[in-house]
Amino acid sequence: MRYEVDFLVIGSGIAGLSYALKVAPYGKVCVLCKGEAAEGSTRYAQGGIAAVMYDSDSFDKHIQDTLVAGDGICDREVVEMTIREAPDRIKELVQYGVNFDRSGAGDRFDLHREGGHSEFRILHHKDNTGAEIERGLLEAVHRHPNIELKEHQFAIDIITQHHLGQRVTKHTPDIECYGVYALDCRTNQIDTYLAKVTLLATGGMGNVYTTTTTPIVSTGDGVAMVHRARGVLSDLEFMQFHPTSLYNPAEKPAFLITEAMRGAGAILKDFNGNEFMQKYDSRLSLAPRDIVARAIDNEMKIAGVDHLYLDARGIGRDGLINGFPTIYAKCLELGINITKDMIPIRPAAHYQCGGIKVDKNGESSIHHLYAAGECSCTGLHGGNRLASNSLLEAVVYAHNAAMSAIERVKTREICHAVPDWNAEGMVLNEEMVLITQTKRELQELMWNYVGIVRSDLRLQRAFDRLNLIFRETEDLYNRSVLTEELSELRNLIACAYLIIKMARARRENVGLHYSIDLVRDGDPRRR
Ligand code: FAD
Ligand code: SIN
Repeated sequence: MRYEVDFLVIGSGIAGLSYALKVAPYGKVCVLCKGEAAEGSTRYAQGGIAAVMYDSDSFDKHIQDTLVAGDGICDREVVEMTIREAPDRIKELVQYGVNFDRSGAGDRFDLHREGGHSEFRILHHKDNTGAEIERGLLEAVHRHPNIELKEHQFAIDIITQHHLGQRVTKHTPDIECYGVYALDCRTNQIDTYLAKVTLLATGGMGNVYTTTTTPIVSTGDGVAMVHRARGVLSDLEFMQFHPTSLYNPAEKPAFLITEAMRGAGAILKDFNGNEFMQKYDSRLSLAPRDIVARAIDNEMKIAGVDHLYLDARGIGRDGLINGFPTIYAKCLELGINITKDMIPIRPAAHYQCGGIKVDKNGESSIHHLYAAGECSCTGLHGGNRLASNSLLEAVVYAHNAAMSAIERVKTREICHAVPDWNAEGMVLNEEMVLITQTKRELQELMWNYVGIVRSDLRLQRAFDRLNLIFRETEDLYNRSVLTEELSELRNLIACAYLIIKMARARRENVGLHYSIDLVRDGDPRRR
């Protein structure tokens, strides 16, 4: 099938939906998502969204906190723009129907605090903020007559001049996007979606690693598509590991224990129940995430254990049951009463700070292709994202991209010369085991060699092992009918390759990139 729209959106999380709502008055919008509409990281967000709402806080403080967490390599202009725009974007979310908790007589938002924040500035809905945002946005999207939302449509590749028979390399000037090819997971047909402008809002890539808080749809598809289309990517060495995922080895994705709990007074403790953060940072359990995750990793290695603890008992029974009802119920299900017991935790891959390089309008290096949300790299996060700045970045850049795209569609035509996908000569892949086993191997090698602490040798080893996995999978791809599983595996491999490549190129320890062979200024320290 061939479809034509003004605005094509890939992804139905906070970035894709808030963009769709903004452009909808100006043309026909189609939103594709590969699973059910609500499935994505957005619905799992717990802590909330950071914004300066009252005079007790200031833009300068939020800017400073973001720059400090980013370890000195954020784009300052982007930080300032994002943080100053935040209150307007929050007001719009409320207008779309999103409810944030309020305090007192209900005239003020109730604000939480998280690691790296010098003030209480996190708007939230209990401890399930993302689910509330996703609900509000989806309901608004369903009400809009110009938006069609299509579930179980897997975008495979961005369409560029390459598909018109031209040679496209990373040096080709003026690469253009004409839309995407997408697999209809219900019919197994590959459809052609042509659009005047396309937005990628495909989320993160946590599934490159064995243990992750991100849902199964987070397989870096947008980044991999832009890589194949020869677009510019950046900062992928900065994979953020959240310090406190619930230790429950059989569970995938790992359940998150929000940092807001530490903001409310919960304390990290070692395997014997002793505090340890004083050895690492004066901000203790509320230090930025890269520091806390490394400290936990180190303590686990020293003690030879696979988890530590978060002690939330000091928050009190009422504070826990009313403020963190989702976490309370989840832990109770597993026999952990958090009003009496410490919570077993360990770090998990959580957020990709890098991604598709975009300008302040959210436009990528490929013309007419925008990106917003976790798949993009705006420069806001630098070496390490400040907690709750991700949902904020997504709404700010969805807005900026929408403003630019609305102007762009006025002068742009659909490219009708695009051919349909050619699936001739492919045989059905019946060796599912090859895909599942390769995925597991990939995740383990990334966890073991390209995790919280890296070294030159580990990165080299990961690169060599990945090369073999890459060749085997390309061989399978070249002779198989394309499936969602195979496509995701190829995308995960591409993301792993990019993470390793960028990690090897980064010759200093900064933010989330930490190697035992490097020091801060880039001088090698031999051990
Ligand atoms: P997502 O919400 O992940 O949505 C991605 C969409 O893309 C989905 O609809 C998916 O189906 C679609 N998609 C992907 N690939 C394809 C494809 N090939 N074809 C078609 N569709 C595709 N950040 C904060 O700021 N505050 C928090 O409190 C917070 N808590 C978090 C808690 C957890 C457990 C996790 C995992 C993350 C948290 N984050 C938080 C990070 C934040 O939630 C995410 O970065 C953000 O929600 C990403 O939104 P998004 O719109 O970019 O992508
Ligand atoms: C959390 O609630 O701890 C997650 C917040 C975030 O990832 O920004």
